[in-house]
Amino acid sequence: MKKTILNILLISVVTAFSVKVVSAQENLIAHKADSVLKMMTLDEKIGQLNQYNDDWTATGPVTIDSTKAIQIKEGKVGSLLNCKGTSRIRRWQEIAMQSRLKIPLIFGQDVIHGYKTTFPIPLAESCSWDLEAIELSARIAATEASAAGLNWTFAPMVDIARDPRWGRVMEGAGEDTYLGSKIAYARVKGFQGKKLGEVNSVMACAKHFAAYGAAIGGRDYNSVDISDRLLWETYLPPFKAAADANVATFMNSFNDINGVPSTGNKYLQRDILKGKWKFDGFVVSDWGSVGEMINHGTAKNGYEAALSAITAGCDMDMESRSYTKNLAQLVADGKVPVNLIDESVFRILKKKFELGLFDDPYKFCNAEREKRELNNPDHPAAAREMARKSIVLLKNENNLLPLSDKIKTIAFIGPLVKAMNQNKGSWDVDVPGVDSSYIVSQWEGLKHRVGNKTKLLYAKGCDIKGNNKEGFAEAVNIAKQADVVILSIGEEREMTGEAKSRSNINIPGVQEELLKALLATGKKVVVLINAGRPLVFNYTAGNAQAILYTWWLGSEAGDAIADVLFGDYNPSARLSISFPLSVGQIPIYYSHFNTGRPALTDDTRFYTSSYNDLSIYPRYEFGYGLGYSAFKYSNLQMSKKKIHHNEQIEVSVTITNTGKYDGEETVQLYLRDLVGSIARPVEELKDFKKVKLQAGQSKTISFTIDSEKLSFYNQQLQWLAEPGEFELMIGASSRDIRMKETFELAD
Ligand code: BGC
Repeated sequence: MKKTILNILLISVVTAFSVKVVSAQENLIAHKADSVLKMMTLDEKIGQLNQYNDDWTATGPVTIDSTKAIQIKEGKVGSLLNCKGTSRIRRWQEIAMQSRLKIPLIFGQDVIHGYKTTFPIPLAESCSWDLEAIELSARIAATEASAAGLNWTFAPMVDIARDPRWGRVMEGAGEDTYLGSKIAYARVKGFQGKKLGEVNSVMACAKHFAAYGAAIGGRDYNSVDISDRLLWETYLPPFKAAADANVATFMNSFNDINGVPSTGNKYLQRDILKGKWKFDGFVVSDWGSVGEMINHGTAKNGYEAALSAITAGCDMDMESRSYTKNLAQLVADGKVPVNLIDESVFRILKKKFELGLFDDPYKFCNAEREKRELNNPDHPAAAREMARKSIVLLKNENNLLPLSDKIKTIAFIGPLVKAMNQNKGSWDVDVPGVDSSYIVSQWEGLKHRVGNKTKLLYAKGCDIKGNNKEGFAEAVNIAKQADVVILSIGEEREMTGEAKSRSNINIPGVQEELLKALLATGKKVVVLINAGRPLVFNYTAGNAQAILYTWWLGSEAGDAIADVLFGDYNPSARLSISFPLSVGQIPIYYSHFNTGRPALTDDTRFYTSSYNDLSIYPRYEFGYGLGYSAFKYSNLQMSKKKIHHNEQIEVSVTITNTGKYDGEETVQLYLRDLVGSIARPVEELKDFKKVKLQAGQSKTISFTIDSEKLSFYNQQLQWLAEPGEFELMIGASSRDIRMKETFELAD
C-alpha cells in the first residue's frame, strides 16, 4: 500500500515520542492527530470543519458550487456527504490527495436501514425487540455502505418519539426510553462493528441531539419546550447509550430547546456531551442548522451563527457554509480562540486516523469488494428474517391466520400489492446503477409461497390517495371468486420521513371504503397495513377479521409477509409505540403519571384526566402484539421482598406455550415507584426477554432488579433510588399485565 509523504513524516514524529505514547493505541492516534494539527494553517483547520454536499440527493437547500473541487484541493473541505459508489468517492479523494497536507476526506451518507439491501424502517425493526437482529441489520448496512466507499452513516436516529404526526417517527425506535436505549446501543455496535479501522466498519452518528422528537405538535423542525427532568429522564438516555457504545459522532438538531437552538446549545454539547459524558468524537451540525440560527433569531448573521455554534461545541458545519465564511474573521477579531478550532479539528483528525484513511485514503474504494458485497446472498436472507420479525399481528379473529395451504383461491387486492419501491419506505438509499428489480413485491412473495397450489387473483381496487372508486367493482368481483381476501393498503412511503409531518393520519383516500365493499361480499379479509407511522384506522380495526401491520419492510417485504401469512413464521413483534384512536388523543404513551384524578376505566372517568368523547385507552398499546400461539405466565418468584441499595432481587417466571405452534413470547417487566418525592410514571419498562418455546413447552426465565432500575432524577436532578415500596409487573404488553407483586427498597 502506498504511504503518503505525510504518513512517513508522521511515523518518524511518532517514533521520536514513542517512549511516551506507544502504550495505548488511542494515545498514538491522539499524538498523530496532534502532529498533523501542528502543521496546519488556520485556513486548513477551518477546512476540516467544513462539510459539503455532493451534487446529489439532498434534504436541504443545495448550494451549487463549481469551485468545490478547487476548495478540496486547497484543503478547505473536511468531508462530503451524499456521494455514493467507489468510483465517485475515489475521484473526490484523489482531489483531496492533491492538497498540501493530503488530509483525506470522510464520506457520509444517511444509511438508515440498509444500503442496497433495504431492511425494514427503523420503527418496524424496533418492534422486533430483537437486539441481536437489529445489530445485524446495522452490520450488514455498514458492510455494504463501506464497500461502496462510505465511512460514515448519519444513523442511528435515537430520538424518542411520541407523536405519530411527526414524519420522522419512522426513523427511530418509538416511544420508550429503555427499549430505545437498548436499540441505540445495538445499532451503534452494528454500524461500527468490531472497531473503527476495520474495512467494513463505518462511523455511526447519534442524532439529533437533542429532543428533536419532542417537536411541539409533531411539526418537523418545530420548537421543543421541555423540563430538565423530561430531557434527562426520557430523551437523553438513548444518546447516553450511544455514547456508551462508543459512537464516533453526534449530530445536533434543528430544533430549539426552551429557546436555545441545539446547534448553539453549550449546555447540551459542551457541558453534557463533551463534559459530563466525556464524548471524544466530534459533533456535526444538522443540514444548514448553523445558518438557521439566523431564522431562529438567536444570531444576526452568519458571523454570529458561526460564533454561537463553535462556542457551543459544534465541530463540523454541514452545508451552511457559516464556518468557512466566518471563522477566520472571528479568530482575527479575537472572538474565537484558535484553541477552540484546534479542539474541533483534533477530534475530526482523530477519527480520520482511526478509520485508517491516513494509511490508505482509498481504503473503502475497492470496486471488486463493492460488487461482491452489494450482491452478497446472505444479505437478502438476513433482511427477510428481520422483516418477518418486524411484522405486528394486531388482530386475528377466530384464528383466520395462518392461512392454510389447502386454500384454493386467494384474491390479493390493493394499491400496494404490486408496488416495488414503496416497500423500501422512506430514507432508503438510491444506489447508483441499481434498479428496483431486486425488491420482492408482495405479489411476488405470495406467488413464491403458493406456487401452483393456490390460484391468485389480483385487482388494484383504488389508489393510495384520491377518491376514485372505479376499481372497486373489479376488486369485489374477484373477492367473490376467492376463499379469502388479502388487502394491502396504507400510506405512500413518501408520507413519512423528514418534513413529512401530517395533521391527518387516517388511512388515506378510499382504501377503508374498499375494505368495506370487500367485507360486504361476506368474505373474510386479512388487511396488511403498510406505513411509516401508527395510522388511525378505526373501521379496519373494528371490522377486518385479521390485521398485520407490516410497516415498510424493505427489499424482502413480499417473502417476509408470505412467511407470516402462512405460518412459516409465527409473528412475534410487539409495538414500540402506542397507536392512538384519533389524532385528538395524541400524545398518548403508556408511561404517563397517575395525576391527581386518574382515569382508571372507561366507565368511571367523570372528573378524571380523560376525554369525555374518547376511550382512555389507545387503539393498541405499547408492547402489544399477537402471535399464532398463546402463552401462559405462572409461578412468579422473587428472591427477596426487601432490599438495600447494593442488593438485587432475582425474579423468575415460567412461560408456557399453550398453543399449537412453536413461537416466541416477549416477556416485559415494568416497575412503578408507588410513592416518590416527585410523581413517577404508572409503569416503566425496565427489562424484557424474548423466549422461544415449542408448542406445549415451558421455560423459566429470570430478571434482576437492582437499585439502578429503581432510580430517577429527583427535584435536584440527582439520579437516585428512593427508599419505599415498588410494584413489579410482568406482562405481555404495557396493558396486558399478567402478574404483579410489591417489594421494598429499605433505607
Ligand atoms: C436531516 C439529518 C440528515 C441530514 C443529511 C438533515 O436534513 O435532519 O437527519 O442526516 O439531513 O442528509
